[in-house]
Amino acid sequence: MGSVAPFVGSCPLGIKAPMAQTDPAQLPAQSIEHDAARRPKGRDMGALGKLLPYLGRYPLQLLGAAVFLAFAAGVTLVVPLTVRQMIDHGFSADNAGVIDQYFLLMLLVALLLGIASATRFFFVSWIGERMVADLRRDVYAHLTKLSPSFFEVTRTGEVLSRLTTDTTLVQSVVGSSASIALRNSVMIVGAMVMLVLTAPGLSLLVLLAFPFVILPLIFLGRLVRTLSRSSQDRVADTSAHAGESLNAIQTMQAFTHEDIDRQSFGVSVEAAFKVAVRRISVRAALTAVAIFAIFGAVVGVLWTGSQAVLAGTMTGGELSQFVLYAVFVASSFGALSEVWGELQRAAGATERLMEILAIEPEIAAPAAPRAMPANASGAITFEDVTFHYPTRPSDRALEQFSLAVRPGETVALVGPSGAGKSTVFQLLLRFYDPQAGRITFDGLSTGELDPTELRQHIALVPQDPVIFAGTIEDNIRYGRPDASAGDVIAAAKAAAAHEFIEALPQGYASAVGERGVTLSGGQRQRLAIARAILRDAPILLLDEATSALDAENERLVQGALSHVMKGRTTIVIAHRLATVKMCDRIIVMDHGRIVASGRHEDLIAQGGLYARLARLQFGFSEVGDTAAE
Ligand SMILES: Nc1ncnc2c1ncn2[C@@H]1O[C@H](COP(=O)(O)OP(=O)(O)OP(=O)(O)O)[C@@H](O)[C@H]1O
Ligand SMILES: [Mg+2]
Repeated sequence: MGSVAPFVGSCPLGIKAPMAQTDPAQLPAQSIEHDAARRPKGRDMGALGKLLPYLGRYPLQLLGAAVFLAFAAGVTLVVPLTVRQMIDHGFSADNAGVIDQYFLLMLLVALLLGIASATRFFFVSWIGERMVADLRRDVYAHLTKLSPSFFEVTRTGEVLSRLTTDTTLVQSVVGSSASIALRNSVMIVGAMVMLVLTAPGLSLLVLLAFPFVILPLIFLGRLVRTLSRSSQDRVADTSAHAGESLNAIQTMQAFTHEDIDRQSFGVSVEAAFKVAVRRISVRAALTAVAIFAIFGAVVGVLWTGSQAVLAGTMTGGELSQFVLYAVFVASSFGALSEVWGELQRAAGATERLMEILAIEPEIAAPAAPRAMPANASGAITFEDVTFHYPTRPSDRALEQFSLAVRPGETVALVGPSGAGKSTVFQLLLRFYDPQAGRITFDGLSTGELDPTELRQHIALVPQDPVIFAGTIEDNIRYGRPDASAGDVIAAAKAAAAHEFIEALPQGYASAVGERGVTLSGGQRQRLAIARAILRDAPILLLDEATSALDAENERLVQGALSHVMKGRTTIVIAHRLATVKMCDRIIVMDHGRIVASGRHEDLIAQGGLYARLARLQFGFSEVGDTAAE
């Protein structure tokens, strides 16, 4: 046993993902999915111990739970004593008054038991809910710190599944199963002590039966845990798959890819189902073994005890008391074995959550970050920077790249697709660190700065702008959450977006749908520009910021941007050379290197790559014969 269904690599393209088969050690970037594949099978429940720090935060509630737990257990353990008294002394006419007292006592016990159990339940469930809330917040907070390289190798759906499904599992277990386990463990210990006190000889018999009952339960329990973990992994697979393909529903339908996606999603689901069936089969076996072993043992003990009563060495009351305690022990074990599997599942889920928390962000603030000057001038230098992306060690995205941008200067990066232009922005934002060379801001090396502080000085319009579900106003205000409504409108006007926003039925309060699906490409782009303008940072990075605009709107946005650029260091990436003609300096890139730089006219005069690109875009008339190679 123990062989888990093979990893079913599925991706929305319906092709077996080759990444899933490669040796994880060869991938420089960390991936929790590979962690999942490497996890040792069938370890103990140690993972649950990692939840202890979360429990420790609420000592008062823990104390409350413990007190009422002990109280309820104590009260329960008194019941057999009263039963024995009733049987041995109560059933005779002259004791009629005593028997009434015993029944009254029992009633009181019932009341106390009810109150104590309810209070214990409240505290334990409270702790469970609180702990999972903390855990969710921690996991999310940790995810927000991770570098882009983590998300390059991990599917968001996988992470989301851990954040929701696994935390829910932990919650149900801590809030109920753990409570059941705790109560029954206490009951087992208490009832065993009482067994020994009642009839030491018979108790020995119970002890002898003990290993035969317990060992199979432990063995099966472990199996359940391993299977539960891989079952959760498979479930995460399916959510990752669904998330990714549903996000691209139009592409899927346009390429009539539904059948293939349905099939490969089906494969993921069936894989999850198969593992789940194995898990519940083992769980079922566990239940059968537990019930038979436990009640078999009780029957054996009862039989031996009845022999003793027949022989006169034991009273009927003593036997009843003993049997009641034996039933307590047995039913507690039964309950324990029921939730044991659940606890194992929670241990698996906890492990998956701890894996996320254990990932160190690749880009982190140094222990003692240098403070950026209050009025950052916006000077930027790249000094001999060589960089390759973590997932592509053999491919250099930038090679010996050196560039100094003066404060307030406007520099354009141009060059063919894949030349490394956007990569320059990624390094400036310190999403990655270069393998060689250094990047400075106002003379300070980016490695010495807190990345958050560094990024506060940058406004970015990314190549594919991201619009979030929410209103237009929310989306613009994303650039500076404390901006006033007037600032938001001013930024929208500067981005030539005000007009189309006003034309919407709800204006700035219009909801844009998930990822801004209700807007056109050019409208989304203008919102992204407004957002960057609102950010009001000393450095402005524009990556193809106006590529989706018509000529008229582009001219409007360009005009507005030229105001914004005044007094700011601006780097513009553009394929359309018309948009960069006016820049102070144009840097021509190819294959991660700078191949030429200068003003538009100089570069045309030089011939080469720029002149060739210009000729293709403007035609010969404007470029002139000097450009001919
Ligand atoms: N996250 C990434 N992981 C691995 N390789 C990447 C990643 N992003 C970009 N690359 C690679 O790095 C190289 C430079 O990419 P970059 O995005 O900088 O090009 P670009 O000049 O902006 O091109 P375009 O004009 O098409 O936007 C390309 O070969 C690309 O395939
Ligand atoms: Mg790019």
